[in-house]
Amino acid sequence: MSIFRKKSLSLLKAEATAEGAHTLKRTLGSGALLGLGIGAIIGAGIFVRTASAAGNYAGPGVMWSYIIAGLGCVFAGLCYVEFATMIPIAGSAYTYSYATMGEMIAWIIGWDLVLEYALGAATVAIAWSEYLNKLCQTFFGFTIPYALCHSPFQASLATGEHGFINIPAMGILAILSWILIKGTKESSNLNNVIVVIKVAIVLAFICLGWKFINPANHAMIVPPNEGGHAFGWQGVFRGAAIVFFAYIGFDAVSTAAQEAKDPQKGMPIGMLGSLALCTGLYVLFSYVLTGITNYKEFSSTGPGHEAAVAYAISTNMPGYEWFSGLITVAILAGFSSVILVLLLGQARVFFSMAHDGLLPKVFAEVHPKYRTPAKANILLFLFCAVFAGIIPGDIVGEMTSIGTLFAFVLVSAGIIVMRRTDPNHERPFKTPFVPLVPLLGMGVCFFMIYHLGWENWARLIVWLGIGMIVYFGYSKKHSKLNQA
Ligand code: ALA
Repeated sequence: MSIFRKKSLSLLKAEATAEGAHTLKRTLGSGALLGLGIGAIIGAGIFVRTASAAGNYAGPGVMWSYIIAGLGCVFAGLCYVEFATMIPIAGSAYTYSYATMGEMIAWIIGWDLVLEYALGAATVAIAWSEYLNKLCQTFFGFTIPYALCHSPFQASLATGEHGFINIPAMGILAILSWILIKGTKESSNLNNVIVVIKVAIVLAFICLGWKFINPANHAMIVPPNEGGHAFGWQGVFRGAAIVFFAYIGFDAVSTAAQEAKDPQKGMPIGMLGSLALCTGLYVLFSYVLTGITNYKEFSSTGPGHEAAVAYAISTNMPGYEWFSGLITVAILAGFSSVILVLLLGQARVFFSMAHDGLLPKVFAEVHPKYRTPAKANILLFLFCAVFAGIIPGDIVGEMTSIGTLFAFVLVSAGIIVMRRTDPNHERPFKTPFVPLVPLLGMGVCFFMIYHLGWENWARLIVWLGIGMIVYFGYSKKHSKLNQA
């Protein structure tokens, strides 16, 4: 049946070579790929969602949340690496599933990746707006009016004022989209500089904050359950689903597979190395954050629920107010690079889908002067700006997480399918213990999907439902495989 038609591996490789000859150079070594991974990973997750997960659900047990979410990512990551080394071309999970599970599943995953990349960019833009406000307070002594930097679905606990539109979040998306259109490439050197700053800031927070840990705050690592998903192990599990956001981005390394000098070596180092390093940093970071400030202050009704890290430093690390200012600047720079990589990743996925005829050609049009998919970038900006401008960060963030988890499930399933349908294809990196590892990946990701709750399942189902209408109404008819 045509919805199960597949793109053959030889066709994919032929396209990769043809495109590679014109545009993409294999310039990225293992170190640069590792940098790319860390550059895309460390962002709003660690600096914003850690506190939110601790305050509302997990308490200091958020450390465990990080370990559980990290495990799910490692299992799925091992599957990603097998694909990325076997099919080392752009397009990531969308491309892999086109070769393994057929067009309709590839469409679903491509459509689903919009949640990961586009809504991920919107989520980080909202977090950027929070920290910009903090920066204005710290250095210039004023705050942006509440209504102009919050969603209409939010209200200030202090004043009761309602949000109207989040202009700074939309603004940063506009600036970064513009940079992408102009073709200012995030060179791996620049990325590496931002990565060094981000890792240094996280390490500095861990080292400087360590001596301010108040043991009373850690008296109970997993606070008792308060019913529902609040605290107890239920809260830790719900927290895992929330902080999972902090790991999103390691798979963006696979979108650069076509630019890797030696993908067989670089992909495992880039993806698994960045995951391992970030897991270690995240666990330590959350230990210190919940040690210096009581988790209750981070709840959505608490004083530290916005720009939580800067709040923790300025209230509980006397003598280090300068560090609070510094960390705010570094966080803003760090968030910008995450948004840039996510927007870039989204544009690449759209580009591949339009190239295959599943999306209108406008998404694959290249600007004559800048040689970038400028129109796709503008449409993408408009889409992200709507979400960043009017939806609260927690909701967009959870939609991002559920979309990404669903993509991980499909990639893990793809490894099992591919081992059966194409057992003899050369596999430079083999996922160990198949089918156990992919099954564990699917299991842990489903577990987190379960803990995101029914509102998010409903949002995912609605989004996929719209996707099905587009597929049967447009994409299936326009697919290039029709011509074949
Ligand atoms: N992992 C990225 C972040 O936390 C998306 O911002």
